[in-house]
Amino acid sequence: MNFRLGPLEVLCGHSNNASNVSRLMLCIGILCGMSTTTWAATGHLLGLEGLSRPQLHAMLDDAEQFLPVVQGVVDPEPLLAGRVVANLFLENSTRTRVSFSVAAQRLGAQVVDLLGSTSSSTKGESLVDTAANIAAMGVDAIVVRCTASGGPQLISEHVDVPVLNAGDGMHEHPTQGLLDLLTIRQHLGTADLDGRRIAIVGDIGSSRVARSNLHALTTCGADVVLVGPAELVPTDFERLIPNEADRGRVTVQHDFDAVISDVDVVMMLRIQFERHEDQAIPEDYIERYGLNAARAERMADGAAVLHPGPVNRGVELVNEVADGPRSLILQQVTNGVAVRMAALAGLLAS
Ligand code: MLT
Repeated sequence: MNFRLGPLEVLCGHSNNASNVSRLMLCIGILCGMSTTTWAATGHLLGLEGLSRPQLHAMLDDAEQFLPVVQGVVDPEPLLAGRVVANLFLENSTRTRVSFSVAAQRLGAQVVDLLGSTSSSTKGESLVDTAANIAAMGVDAIVVRCTASGGPQLISEHVDVPVLNAGDGMHEHPTQGLLDLLTIRQHLGTADLDGRRIAIVGDIGSSRVARSNLHALTTCGADVVLVGPAELVPTDFERLIPNEADRGRVTVQHDFDAVISDVDVVMMLRIQFERHEDQAIPEDYIERYGLNAARAERMADGAAVLHPGPVNRGVELVNEVADGPRSLILQQVTNGVAVRMAALAGLLAS
């Protein structure tokens, strides 16, 4: 990826004090570190399935270059000045939409929001027609969240601007998978996860987060154990993994207590009640699958708790754990902005 470089005084301002010298060093670091990545070659970010380990690592490396900007340690470079990013969110979102907006604005782009309740989808317009109309207005990228699995892929076949999947039905949520992987890399000190064991717990069948993580984590070498009641965890979920060797590292476990002491990371998911209109959730769900204080006590030293949000406190996580020392939940949110900056810059900066 080629980043458009601005003059350093634009990036960092003029100053001779120590703090601005360190800001200058960080600016230089960002510019030098981000020169080539291959992941953006398809022109879109539709999913993590099929991305190689080096491509995933490159995306995390790029995101890490942007972290000092997100943390306010370094001034943002307006890599996307003059560009317009359209958020087409036809399903509810808090974190992902705001995070994409903050990321785009930090890069100097303008953001327009089209939300489900106000879009013409409520008048029967198709997803492709809506997206094609937005593209025809000359926007530079479309960030899509929709209930239809495969919607962003379909849109990408009909518009000539980059499409970024912000969560499509029960298919993928690639930027969430990346921010989770970045958080795990920061915590464990490596994104080569060979020999590491990660539990994803909860409503696996409904979860695009679980699917994106399954692709990313197995590609990076982790053993993944999917935990939940039979009603929520499809036994053949590992079939999603195209590569046979990676598939062999995915297991299903219905007994949370049998794995809790033996994992490096526990990723808790909420029950997606909105996708279970006709299906009963087991009455003893909280007792069997909630991460309470007693279970958290049994986790290995240094093992971390992740959650993509929104957290249903008192269901999958008690307050004590959600806000406790093992929780990396807010770190995930911070990382999300850096990941989305890297995604937008990777696809748009030239
Ligand atoms: C999603 O959009 O998939 C969320 O981040 C996870 C959830 O809704 O539970």
